[in-house]
Amino acid sequence: MIKDSILDYPSRGHWGKASYRGNCTGYLIKDLLEKYQPKQFVEVFSGGGTGQDVAKELGLTNSVHLDLLTGWDALKDDIPVQPDFVFSHPPYWDIIKYKDMRGQYDADDLSNPVDYPDFIRMLDKVNEKIYASLINGGRHAFLMGDVRKRVNDHYQYYSIIKDMAWFGDLESHLVKVQHNVTSGRKGYHGSFIPIMHEHLLIFIKRSIWQLGIKYTKTFIRDLRQLQQVTWRDLVRAAVEQHGRRASLKDLYETLDGAKKAVNNDHWREQIRAVVQRYPEFERIQSGVYAVA
Ligand SMILES: C[S@@+](CC[C@H](N)C(=O)[O-])C[C@H]1O[C@@H](n2cnc3c(N)ncnc32)[C@H](O)[C@@H]1O
Repeated sequence: MIKDSILDYPSRGHWGKASYRGNCTGYLIKDLLEKYQPKQFVEVFSGGGTGQDVAKELGLTNSVHLDLLTGWDALKDDIPVQPDFVFSHPPYWDIIKYKDMRGQYDADDLSNPVDYPDFIRMLDKVNEKIYASLINGGRHAFLMGDVRKRVNDHYQYYSIIKDMAWFGDLESHLVKVQHNVTSGRKGYHGSFIPIMHEHLLIFIKRSIWQLGIKYTKTFIRDLRQLQQVTWRDLVRAAVEQHGRRASLKDLYETLDGAKKAVNNDHWREQIRAVVQRYPEFERIQSGVYAVA
């Protein structure tokens, strides 16, 4: 039974193929079906058959389970019925490559190693299709994890649920504790925090025609062009840029053109005032300052 927004199922239960990589616990699907009591249940990305076994056990005779594995392509094919409840559990980008599970490549496989924006575009297409197929009042329960990948010298965090488009109203956001994760077993050091949770978003279709679509966009900006930056922030950043040790001339050059400097005839005086006033700036010699 779902009691609150934290889901924790230490075992996956006897449903579906336990060896199917990236499968989910049947307890989650069982709880969702018992809570929402759908008349027409559809499972998208059904994988190793977890949802099918649960539905059968609960006596749902008309449920539909769709996956590339059984010849249904989420990017090309229509949802064959009109559901009041859809559970979908897409690949977490290319973390598990389902080509290997099927034994054959498919260009529409969402787990192909494509660029992140391309993965998000594919996911958006499927989520839009699922939302459109819902009858009014229907729900889409969407299970997804976060991803972290090494990019050059750091680990990049990808929040798929935040980067994808949201179709319809978010009715609930539940956090599911993840068990048996490979990364959880590794002994990470330093500031690295292993991901031990997944997200279950429940979207509801509240209106026949109108829907909210929400998406995030990343803008690349220069800190010097921000409104809320202070002179102290700017000067510290400029000293950092010069290897943590900069002359006043370096600072003038680096901050010339900053938004705060453009309408201020006394901007050079401002810079001098900052390095003299704040304790993070150490005077190394006349006109030269360092930060730790
Ligand atoms: C995370 S798994 C689902 C696991 C499932 N919940 C279970 O318990 O076994 C993701 C599934 O998405 C399927 N898939 C990837 N791209 C697809 C596409 N374009 N159309 C249909 N299924 C796709 C894969 O074959 C894989 O089975």
